[in-house]
Amino acid sequence: MAQKMNARGLQEQLMSLNRIGIALSKEQDLNQLLTLILRESRQFTSAEAGSLYVREGNQLRFSVSQNDVLDARKKAELKAQKKQLEIVPSTFTGFYVSLDKSSISGYVGTTGKVLNIPDSYKIPPSREYKFNRSFDEKNNYRTKSQLVVPMKDASGNVVGVIQLLNAHKGKNIVPFDKHFESLVLSLASQAAITIKNAMLTQELKEAYLDTIFRLSVAAEYKDDDTAAHIHRMSRYSAILAEGLGLSPAEVESIRYASPMHDIGKLGVPDSILMKPGKLTPAEFKEMQNHTVFGAKILENAKAELLRVSEVIAITHHEKWDGSGYPRGLKGENIPLSGRVVALADVFDALTSKRCYKPAFSLEESMKIIKEGSGRHFDAKVVQAFNDNIEKFLAVKAQFSN
Ligand code: C2E
Ligand code: SIN
Ligand code: SIN
Ligand code: FE
Repeated sequence: MAQKMNARGLQEQLMSLNRIGIALSKEQDLNQLLTLILRESRQFTSAEAGSLYVREGNQLRFSVSQNDVLDARKKAELKAQKKQLEIVPSTFTGFYVSLDKSSISGYVGTTGKVLNIPDSYKIPPSREYKFNRSFDEKNNYRTKSQLVVPMKDASGNVVGVIQLLNAHKGKNIVPFDKHFESLVLSLASQAAITIKNAMLTQELKEAYLDTIFRLSVAAEYKDDDTAAHIHRMSRYSAILAEGLGLSPAEVESIRYASPMHDIGKLGVPDSILMKPGKLTPAEFKEMQNHTVFGAKILENAKAELLRVSEVIAITHHEKWDGSGYPRGLKGENIPLSGRVVALADVFDALTSKRCYKPAFSLEESMKIIKEGSGRHFDAKVVQAFNDNIEKFLAVKAQFSN
């Protein structure tokens, strides 16, 4: 029988809810957010397993799944086989449940009601929903108690469903305590609001990145190879940043800021950009202005990513020995992002055909870069290039048009 909560227990649970709410509001990445919501709700209710569904149109997308019992079993099996213990997060995604009353999650998603089921195998046949045993049978698992709650946004629309399985009291599996119904419901609606924000953030981010790529391509549209060039550049730069040991956030920042390195070519006349042969000194001088034009286009931006883009635009033709342009910066006075993109840009220029030059072989290109170590390029960046040449080749093969 469910125990009555005393005031202190309730107080502690409310504080715990509050902590969860703060943690949720800080997480921006949608998948991590969903994982966090499920983990916290399970911990809160001592549930050994659970799933989280997100509403997409008239379906529920099965988005996150966690199961401590199956994970432990898998770990033990791997150990018995003396295999390396890989950390396999028990998250698998991608199947859909239709939003109708025949399944348990569908019922909760459709009606917005909470279901607190003591034993999934003993649901009265008169109920509209049925328990599907196929997962249990396939995994030799026994789903017993369930607490299934809707995630509702501020207007009461269901945006998802949290399904918690097998509540524990010590080693025993027990029904979910009744007082959890309203507590998890309030946790779920708080989660719903953060999910909506994260989705919006993700959508904005995607729109933003798409815009960056389109603009970058537009700036260089004269080269037939431009879109692929932008993709390769972005990825080469990320490989180098990673190889240099930068943090995932810095790697991402360089990856998404690098596409705009040549946006200033918008300000260079076509007669120069598309000249089939060698540029005269005067023409090359004018071409060099693309760095300054680019920085001008990007200057005073609020967004951090655009600020990195500005730095890259103005520094990607500087050289380690100070012989580059536009400012003749030297060594570590050149921002690292500029040093990284310099190598990525030249590698792509060398291995590609340009209107003024044929593509060089890989060997020839690698030789030129090696010779540039400590002169054109930061030797550390050249090292990261040498260490990751396979990754470069994979990107080159993928975007080869
Ligand atoms: P890009 O074609 O994307 O080349 C980027 C950088 O790759 C060049 O910067 C240069 O450092 C390197 N690079 C390209 N081709 C070669 C090469 O054959 N040998 C060596 N060692 N390095 C190479 P750079 O020189 O500052 O040029 C900037 C941009 O100016 C180039 O971008 C290209 O759009 C244009 N450009 C440079 N030289 C010529 C030229 O002779 N004719 C024409 N039409 N455009 C040129
Ligand atoms: C991305 O990797 O998603 C953007 C950069 C690219 O497409 O090359
Ligand atoms: C060229 O002059 O063909 C481009 C090579 C370079 O600018 O270094
Ligand atoms: Fe450039």
